[in-house]
Amino acid sequence: MAPQPKNIILGISAGIAAYKMYDLVSDFKKLGHNVHVVLTQDGKHFVSELPLKVLSSNPVHCEMFSHEIQAKPIHIELADLADIILISPATADIIAKMACGICDELITNILLATKAQVYIAPAMNTNMWKHFTTQKNIETLVTKLGYKIIPPEEGALACGYSGIGHIASNEKILKTLFVDETINKPLAGKKIIITAGGTKEAIDPVRYIGNKSSGKMGLAIADAAHNMGADVILVSTVSRDRNYQVIEVESAQEMQEVIESEFDKCDGLIMAAAVSDFRPITASKQKIKKKNEDITIELTRNPDILEILGRTKREKQIIIGFSAESENIEKNAREKLEKKKIDMIIANDISVPEIGFESDENEVIILTRDGQREVLQRRPKAQIAQHICNKLVEIFQKTIKEAKKI
Ligand SMILES: Cc1cc2nc3c(=O)[nH]c(=O)nc-3n(C[C@H](O)[C@H](O)[C@H](O)COP(=O)(O)O)c2cc1C
Repeated sequence: MAPQPKNIILGISAGIAAYKMYDLVSDFKKLGHNVHVVLTQDGKHFVSELPLKVLSSNPVHCEMFSHEIQAKPIHIELADLADIILISPATADIIAKMACGICDELITNILLATKAQVYIAPAMNTNMWKHFTTQKNIETLVTKLGYKIIPPEEGALACGYSGIGHIASNEKILKTLFVDETINKPLAGKKIIITAGGTKEAIDPVRYIGNKSSGKMGLAIADAAHNMGADVILVSTVSRDRNYQVIEVESAQEMQEVIESEFDKCDGLIMAAAVSDFRPITASKQKIKKKNEDITIELTRNPDILEILGRTKREKQIIIGFSAESENIEKNAREKLEKKKIDMIIANDISVPEIGFESDENEVIILTRDGQREVLQRRPKAQIAQHICNKLVEIFQKTIKEAKKI
């Protein structure tokens, strides 16, 4: 089941489900992993150090401050050692601390210092789990820090309640850590640029020509690709904190410069940004003063990034574009696919207010260079993003097969 022996830090916080960690530590050991248990101060009420020490064959850590002289403080040593950090059970309290970056325990310090993937298996009373604050904290951990949640399950709870809050089974935890990870990472080893948002073309230091793009679609694709193992570079006009590389740009020319400097090292590009076709020929250095007469702004064509890269890309590099249209949607998208020599295009109808720009949902037609056509009826952008990334995986696999035939 386990592909490679790993250094696992198991953080146990103060929940009833802590007793199940005796078995989980044994399971990790049986699978050949090296486990280091870190207990919270309150966690000591729920499990004993001695059995965890014997089962893991390692010291059990709890104290932040030790009198022993070490090359590195213990929290940094464990943070650097970890391949995986699992917090199980994760109390509402430790989830809140993690979401805020509070470092009042050894384990919370390790979490802030580590670069390892963090998994959390929450367990608590159902009202505590459903509480707005807990849900908000979970969202922060997933979207801002890239933590993986092993969700609690429904069942009879030790507190007497029945509902969601029961810790996931040890079997489910092991499957998430070691099986799903390899299966669900079909974009591992691929470096992909994803663009998001609408470009802003300066008229003067305060005014610009822009568009209604919110960046939600591009952001959803970047998150999906990252979760599927891709090394993502998000080139975005909207500022977002992510646990992958984000390069902020404003204008089409800035976006072009970044993409051109990065693309050579990349396997793919997904252009979800709404790039302005035109920009003012000159941007005034000073704010243009109000006058009692009309003014004219002369516009010039912006570079067509997709067309330039479609022409110059290497055979194995994959390019996906978007076509936001208000009429002749499919026809226009098909023409772009051919003209720009890209591998796939996603067409959407921006004349319908419930889908497209600014909305959380979209409805698209996907056309591929090899003649596939797919309609995705209205659904959340996250689902569309997942589908687009699955199609990208298919195209990569097809490219590999074709290269083998030659
Ligand atoms: C008997 C008992 C059981 C508890 N079980 C849980 C639990 O399952 N989940 C939880 O979030 N808090 C639970 N708590 C509350 C936590 O123990 C408390 O918030 C504690 O301060 C958390 O400490 P820690 O997050 O630093 O480990 C329980 C408390 C008691 C007294």
